[in-house]
Amino acid sequence: MPIDYEAVRSQIGNAVREEPDASRALERAVSEIKAAMPDYTWVGIYLLQDGELVLGPFLGKPSPHTRIPVGRGICGAAAAEKQTIVVDDVSADERYLACSLDTRSEIVAPIMRGDRVLGEIDIDSDRAAAFGGKDRALLEAVAAMLSEKLGGRQD
Ligand code: SME
Repeated sequence: MPIDYEAVRSQIGNAVREEPDASRALERAVSEIKAAMPDYTWVGIYLLQDGELVLGPFLGKPSPHTRIPVGRGICGAAAAEKQTIVVDDVSADERYLACSLDTRSEIVAPIMRGDRVLGEIDIDSDRAAAFGGKDRALLEAVAAMLSEKLGGRQD
């Protein structure tokens, strides 16, 4: 069955909105994304703290990359460039920091507040080129929802 991206987006939006605080909203976003998208093997959120991306909630195998400096890896590149990065074949990208040997493709969508990076949504797939324009639009929409939830935080 093809994925109904609009339905997934509104389901995640409802779930995030009903969570009372930011950290619960992050956890809920991760679980909703993972449940809705069969090709998303690893789903996690990093938050920017003192120039480093610090791993928050995630689903999938534990990653060795729990702290990533801005500028390192695909995660660090997305934070430095302040834009979504899609990598169709991680083995062909020198920036890639391996998390699982089975990973073939990755997308990282920054969570922005104005010009400031608050964090990012990072997703790995065991399928090559798993992330298209609809995935990008979905994850950028979820990032915008999470930015609103994180807005009250000063860190
Ligand atoms: N692959 C990421 C590192 C994080 S793991 O995928 C969870 C990167 O290259 O930045």
